[in-house]
Amino acid sequence: MSTTKKEADTRGLAGQTIGETAVCAVNQTQLIYRGYEIADLAANASFEEVAFLLLVGHKPASGELAAFSEELAQMRSGLGEGVLSTVERIARESPGAHPMDVLRTAISLAAHEDPDCEDNGPEAELRKSKRLLATIPVIVGTHQRALDGLPRIESDPSLSHAANLLWLLTGRKPGEIAAKVMDVSLILYAEHDFNASTFTSRVIASTNSDMHSAVCGAIGALKGNLHGGANEAAMEMLKDIMEDTASGDMTVDAWMERAFSEKRKLMGFGHRVYKNGDHRAGILRDWGIRYAEQENPDTRKWFDLGDAVQKIMLDSKNIHPNVDFPCGMTYFAMGIPVPQYTPIFVASRITGWCAHIMEQHQNNRIIRPLAEYTGPGLLEWND
Ligand code: SDX
Repeated sequence: MSTTKKEADTRGLAGQTIGETAVCAVNQTQLIYRGYEIADLAANASFEEVAFLLLVGHKPASGELAAFSEELAQMRSGLGEGVLSTVERIARESPGAHPMDVLRTAISLAAHEDPDCEDNGPEAELRKSKRLLATIPVIVGTHQRALDGLPRIESDPSLSHAANLLWLLTGRKPGEIAAKVMDVSLILYAEHDFNASTFTSRVIASTNSDMHSAVCGAIGALKGNLHGGANEAAMEMLKDIMEDTASGDMTVDAWMERAFSEKRKLMGFGHRVYKNGDHRAGILRDWGIRYAEQENPDTRKWFDLGDAVQKIMLDSKNIHPNVDFPCGMTYFAMGIPVPQYTPIFVASRITGWCAHIMEQHQNNRIIRPLAEYTGPGLLEWND
């Protein structure tokens, strides 16, 4: 009996290996950053150590880590007044502007004051990577404070990168568990081989364009709810489910059945590569629950709802959650404004993007694939 092999669906370059990288490996069994498995890094490394590993290429020795952390702390105050006052003006004049758009604008402005902007050499790009890593939390925090009608906060050099991000964003010095959960989330979000935003950054870098241009393009790609924007969309979806089922007139099962019948994409679920689960999701869910139980017990209900939704997705569709699903609940429990979730993703993924931009520039050939033409046959203009 002849069997017809279902043609692989290669739309969106699905399943296509289109280049090499030494930065990261993503497959069904492992997620590896430059040789180190993600569960090992999440359990034993700090975000600063992972950022160094991705940007410099090896695990930092203690002296290297101290110097790197000190450099980042100093660079936090490196943004010119023009950048930060523009971010504050946008918050006043266009409070509805998406924080990802404001972040993209701010980085575009920061390029004009970066002396290395047009230098694509390895030393200059490492300097630019560190400046971007150090200053993105300042941009995100300044924007949120302005939206809240509050004055800027100066970075605290005694705080880790993750703790300083929370300080700038919330105006509260984070406790131990809050700093730890943010640190782990930044490690988990840092890098993921040729995902859409990273591939975008490599395409832009491959034309010999500069790092800031490539990062602005990557931010545009990450904003979409099929990619990084899913962490915000996942939390909004859970809020809808909680609200729609609060009266008891509708069960979670019924809500999900309705979503399936409407062929809705459930945010925070599915993945182009992972078909048996995202290695990062369980790690972040466990830390999120630990935070909720220790610091904000009223928010435990979101994780219970999340587990119920997750079970229905698995039983009905055999679709697993990706890292964005537990991220939404975790950041919500931490009191972070939902529209800042994806900018925080940028504050982490800037390390992966910059590692790939440097790798592309150091061994470059312009990325230009072929297209299959499906338009009309040849026509005569004067016919
Ligand atoms: C990230 O690539 C990366 O590495 C990204 C990322 C990273 O670290 O950089 O991991 C971060 O972006 C995670 C993904 C966040 N996005 C979402 O959570 C949005 C919801 N997910 C879906 O849109 C979807 O699952 C994608 C975009 C993640 C994957 O798209 P694919 O590979 O095209 O989907 P698929 O082939 O696995 O799905 C097959 C079918 C779908 O068919 P279509 O309707 O797309 O033709 O499975 C169903 C659907 O019928 N399906 C879903 C679903 N995901 C797949 N049905 C409902 N809800 C979903 N979430």
